[in-house]
Amino acid sequence: MFPHRLTSERVPSHINFMKIEEKIITLKDGRSAVLRSGQVTDALQLNTCFDKIKTQTKFIAVSPEDKTSLEEQEERIERYLNSDTEVLLIAIVDGEVAGSCTFGNRKSTKRTKHRASLGIALEDSYTNAGLGTEMIRYAIEICKKMGFERFELGYIEGNNRARKVYTRLGFVETGRIPQCMKYNDGTYADEILMSMNLL
Ligand SMILES: CC(C)(COP(=O)(O)OP(=O)(O)OC[C@H]1O[C@@H](n2cnc3c(N)ncnc32)[C@H](O)[C@@H]1OP(=O)(O)O)[C@@H](O)C(=O)NCCC(=O)NCCS
Repeated sequence: MFPHRLTSERVPSHINFMKIEEKIITLKDGRSAVLRSGQVTDALQLNTCFDKIKTQTKFIAVSPEDKTSLEEQEERIERYLNSDTEVLLIAIVDGEVAGSCTFGNRKSTKRTKHRASLGIALEDSYTNAGLGTEMIRYAIEICKKMGFERFELGYIEGNNRARKVYTRLGFVETGRIPQCMKYNDGTYADEILMSMNLL
């Protein structure tokens, strides 16, 4: 069990502080994955994992040029651990960080605190084994318990794998941000927005 710290005066009404229970799932290839809250001691492995993912896909916002120091990653994890409205969920396979998923609502203004958003990235060797689907399924379950009413995400056009996963879990397309991403070769890609009702 990896409890998030509760600071009652910062808890927005209707959003419930959640203890993220560790969950063990079996992947399609028979391996086990542990889904749990990211801890500060995971920072190095999380950076190593992200460094690989950045070279593997053009479908995430960060590129190899974007560096995160160990201290910055530790601070980032600490921020999630201290947050009442955001969660960093990581997947451990064979003792390694296979990927991570963040969800919740950082700003939590009164008029927008009913909405949560999600981002996910897995290292390539752990993809297509059902891990992404199960991590998001768990994120949906947690967001419902936290009291969020809508769950939102975006994917970059052409990321048909991500779309397949999001669609089967109940997300529907709601819009598009043109030229959301600009690549080193000067080309652009749109972001497709999706969301689902959690009520
Ligand atoms: C997108 C991502 C989270 C999905 O997680 P995952 O664990 O790979 O997905 P799953 O194994 O649960 O499901 C993938 C499904 O897409 C299918 N698929 C794979 N490649 C596909 C493609 N090019 N087009 C359509 N479907 C595809 C798989 O067959 C599988 O379907 P099935 O379960 O019916 O066989 C993960 O691949 C990932 O992190 N990719 C790199 C970063 C990224 O794209 N992040 C998302 C940013 S929005």
